[in-house]
Amino acid sequence: MSKTISCINYTISINQKDFLRQCISEIRPSKIFVIVDENTEMFCLPSMYEVVDSHNLNIIRIPSGEQYKTIDTCKSVWGQMMESGADRHSLVLNLGGGVIGDLGGFCASTYMRGIKFIQLPTTLLSQVDASVGGKLGVDLDGVKNMIGVFNEPYAVIIETNYLQTLPYKELLSGYAELLKHGLIANKDIWEDLSQNTDITSLNFEEVVYRSVLIKKSVTEEDPTEKGLRKILNFGHTAGHAIETKSFESDQPLLHGEAIAIGMIIESYLSMSLGYLTLDQYTTIKERIQKLYGNKYKSLPTVEEVLPYMLKDKKNQGGTIQYALLSKPGHAIYDQIVDISVLEKAFEDYKR
Ligand SMILES: NC(=O)c1ccc[n+]([C@@H]2O[C@H](COP(=O)([O-])OP(=O)(O)OC[C@H]3O[C@@H](n4cnc5c(N)ncnc54)[C@H](O)[C@@H]3O)[C@@H](O)[C@H]2O)c1
Ligand SMILES: [Zn+2]
Repeated sequence: MSKTISCINYTISINQKDFLRQCISEIRPSKIFVIVDENTEMFCLPSMYEVVDSHNLNIIRIPSGEQYKTIDTCKSVWGQMMESGADRHSLVLNLGGGVIGDLGGFCASTYMRGIKFIQLPTTLLSQVDASVGGKLGVDLDGVKNMIGVFNEPYAVIIETNYLQTLPYKELLSGYAELLKHGLIANKDIWEDLSQNTDITSLNFEEVVYRSVLIKKSVTEEDPTEKGLRKILNFGHTAGHAIETKSFESDQPLLHGEAIAIGMIIESYLSMSLGYLTLDQYTTIKERIQKLYGNKYKSLPTVEEVLPYMLKDKKNQGGTIQYALLSKPGHAIYDQIVDISVLEKAFEDYKR
């Protein structure tokens, strides 16, 4: 089984073994570079050798982790490409999670004013979220995604088999974005996934496909986030701030773990504006907490996270702007909520 999704300028393939070979024969690159970290080199690169002769691949290794999503790492990537003779007709393959996709895509988009690249996402998060929608970039002085560009890959090639070696915590983190896609755009997906008790046994080809379709259609309608694309930030205004704050503790949260909390908080805000009923809010809270546990101990206070929320790129004129649910399966953006309600949402989360 395999699936294909046609975007305006490129194709996303799911579990189509031959697609990479096909792209390479269309592009006929002068050289091929593949960017990996120590995990994707060990777990994912070997299966690429079934498709591309290893002698034709120039491997660029970067260390794994968000702390390496920096301009310093880009300099090392650009330097290695230049040293190995990369020219305008070279191709970059980004084999990894969102860090490699964002950084490798940015490096390719800026090397010699831009060369072709293909995203080969290997985590659940990068398969359903980071690799689709054209946002590329790196962090600056610890501030996420400060430097970057919008640019599209030649193709996105998803292989759900890669998820077999992904640590469970990472799988669960990516699962939060699947739940989000359901909550903002497709109630049936939310109903299916939020009541699932064994994530590892899912038919990933199907769930990844359905989720990518949502991200694709939203980002195609509003590629540069002028309006509709903002709904993808549901759970992220509070979630991002909670995530950033957690980096100061000895138990930092993974992105999706923080977004799971953020979705509960922002569902409460949706209820406070009269969009969700108490029943709908309680169901969302209970199902997410069943999957992610109640991490109330690490939940900071509103006072502690507010400075981060105020820095959110989506804000306008100093007020925090949320993407909220108008009902399960539907979202709205540019919503404003009083800080006192946010405090109540945090209190209710811990209850
Ligand atoms: N561009 C976008 O629109 C967008 C959207 C969402 C997130 N992001 C970015 O994505 C990044 C997070 O991505 P992520 O969650 O994939 O994290 P990640 O790239 O750090 O990968 C998580 C970990 O899993 C390992 N790994 C990757 N694939 C593996 C596999 N198949 N088997 C075993 N281990 C594997 C990696 O080495 C790493 O240690 C963030 O930097 C975020 O800003 C971008
Ligand atoms: Zn996210």
